[in-house]
Amino acid sequence: MEPGRQTDIGDRLNFRLMKVEDIGRICEIEEEAFPTPWTSAAFYNELVNNHFAHYMVMELDGEIIAYGGMWLIMNEAHVTNIAVALRYRGMKLGERLVRELKRTAAFMGADKMTLEVRESNEVAKRLYRKLGFASSGVRKAYYTDNNEDAIIMWADLPRAASPVKPAQEKGNAQQPGRQVQHQEGAGKQE
Ligand SMILES: CC(C)(COP(=O)(O)OP(=O)(O)OC[C@H]1O[C@@H](n2cnc3c(N)ncnc32)[C@H](O)[C@@H]1OP(=O)(O)O)[C@@H](O)C(=O)NCCC(=O)NCCS
Repeated sequence: MEPGRQTDIGDRLNFRLMKVEDIGRICEIEEEAFPTPWTSAAFYNELVNNHFAHYMVMELDGEIIAYGGMWLIMNEAHVTNIAVALRYRGMKLGERLVRELKRTAAFMGADKMTLEVRESNEVAKRLYRKLGFASSGVRKAYYTDNNEDAIIMWADLPRAASPVKPAQEKGNAQQPGRQVQHQEGAGKQE
């Protein structure tokens, strides 16, 4: 680096698809992020068996520091999971991650994105509102660990230049966002 030159953290960040080999590190972040973390088996199932699923990791200098995932079904992207490693929070990395998920979903042909968030998760709700999500309803007692309600949020996605046709066939996936599976894995948003 030239003397005195400031590097933007963005220069050190990389987004890529999640791989099975990443699951160990992903579970470390997952466990510090959620009261009912997904198991490694749940991530494995998402990566290997769910043809609707798209999971991305964010690396800083090659270390995974955040991840997010979604199911692309027809024209809709259903976010299933988003987390930033504890020590990297508050650095606008969650914002970059959600923007990347939105960009990817639009590129894959989605025109809207939805997620559920715990009613008490003010940080996440604020992030989502900032990025264009609006509340559209409530799933009562959605989170089985404490019977907390989930707020359902939706955002419109910008039209992408050359969208890829979204998945339409039925794979091994269940509908995202259902309550029964989120202790096991997919479908949890906190
Ligand atoms: C939610 C989460 C992904 C946010 O990531 P982050 O990198 O810490 O957030 P960012 O630094 O990108 O902040 C982006 C916006 O989020 C909101 N935000 C972030 N930290 C906040 C805080 N401590 N208090 C209030 N709002 C906050 C703000 O709107 C902020 O934008 P602003 O600073 O311009 O107002 C992260 O806190 C996390 O992993 N939490 C645990 C897992 C989780 O709750 N996931 C979401 C499930 S729905």
